[in-house]
Amino acid sequence: MSDAHEVQTLNDSSIAIDFAGIHFKNPFMLSSAPPSMSPRLVIRAARLGWGGAVLKTVTENPTVDPRTRLGALRKDGRLIGMNNIELLSRETVDTWVRSYIPQMRKESPEGFVLIASIMSSPDPDSWTTLAETVTSAEVDAIELNVSCPHGSPEKHMGAFIGQNPDLVESVTRAAKKGTDLPILVKLTPNVTDVVSIAQAAKKGGADGVSAINTVESLIGIDVEAATPLPAAYPTAPGTTFSTYGGFCGPAVRPIGLRVVSQIARADPDLQISGIGGIEDWHSAAEYIMVGAQTLQVCTAVMWHGFGIIKDMTAGLAEFLARKGYEDLQSMVGLALPKLTSWEALDKLPPVIAKITDACTGCKKCVIACADGGYLAIQMRDGKAVVNPEKCDGCGLCSVVCDDNAVEFVYSS
Ligand SMILES: Cc1cc2nc3c(=O)[nH]c(=O)nc-3n(C[C@H](O)[C@H](O)[C@H](O)COP(=O)(O)O)c2cc1C
Repeated sequence: MSDAHEVQTLNDSSIAIDFAGIHFKNPFMLSSAPPSMSPRLVIRAARLGWGGAVLKTVTENPTVDPRTRLGALRKDGRLIGMNNIELLSRETVDTWVRSYIPQMRKESPEGFVLIASIMSSPDPDSWTTLAETVTSAEVDAIELNVSCPHGSPEKHMGAFIGQNPDLVESVTRAAKKGTDLPILVKLTPNVTDVVSIAQAAKKGGADGVSAINTVESLIGIDVEAATPLPAAYPTAPGTTFSTYGGFCGPAVRPIGLRVVSQIARADPDLQISGIGGIEDWHSAAEYIMVGAQTLQVCTAVMWHGFGIIKDMTAGLAEFLARKGYEDLQSMVGLALPKLTSWEALDKLPPVIAKITDACTGCKKCVIACADGGYLAIQMRDGKAVVNPEKCDGCGLCSVVCDDNAVEFVYSS
């Protein structure tokens, strides 16, 4: 792709969108995380074409983090998820307000959206004060972090607040008191009923919600050493310890999509910034189609760098053009009318699997159907063939097929 084409795509106005009263040249933001923790990083992202950044969360007391604090989930060597036991910014609110944010504003291209992220205790006054303080820097909005699942809840912060609708409403109202800027409330998926939390945020005056923060997790155990991961090293050599952390990356996308769609279905007017496993234009389009207007990315940037923005913006703009959608807003929530209750689904329609010419004869579907299904697939002349009498249409063969060689047809 030529440089000229890249610039043209990054400026493509078809993927601009208005969200919570703010104009975004494209919907892609850095989420509050390491890629937005310093002016060097944010300015680099801004110049590469990101639409905005939610800055690393600030609180009254700067954080001291364990080393190490990141853990990986791999399948056959491929990274599919990550967890972290990192907390918040190591810099003071004063440093952000007097130095970091002004520098980011000055050195970022015009139109780049800067959103401060704040966290405090359930004391409403502390949210009012923090909101007032960050408003004095030139940010466009404020995100309330009531969703960090590790470390913070031990101090009655983060997800301790975000799991309680009354506290969410109270701190949102308090932050609103300290600012005229739009307020987003970042939600935790670690609740039974996320819709009630989103509605509490709205009741407290939120202009939108961001979902999801990380999913509480234990990423794994080093079984040789009988030690949980990630390993936090002690100051002097000795036993490593660990704690529960926040899971993120592609593996959490189904949870993020579920949360965003539930909130959007319950309140189609609520502005939503989608987060969780967004890694390319396709996963971005998925979030938009279930109700997100903007998108936030952390893990994909940490794994692949800020440069992914080029393919994400170009891919999304090309998808819009190919589908004939007028603009991004017209794509928002398009898949929602097709989400219904389980009870409303037709049961036992006469569809069965059919293996297409794309079959490479790997036998994965044969084994799966034999031991996890209905013994409905056999090999014939090096290809898998479905027995229509036995097939139950469950879909397991298409789940295990790496070659996209299964379609579903109505049986005669
Ligand atoms: C190392 C690390 C640090 C994070 N720090 C913050 C933070 O300070 N504030 C916050 O709201 N979210 C924080 N997050 C959560 C991310 O912003 C994001 O919600 C989450 O990772 C899901 O998005 P992803 O799948 O694109 O990573 C952090 C995530 C990671 C991996």
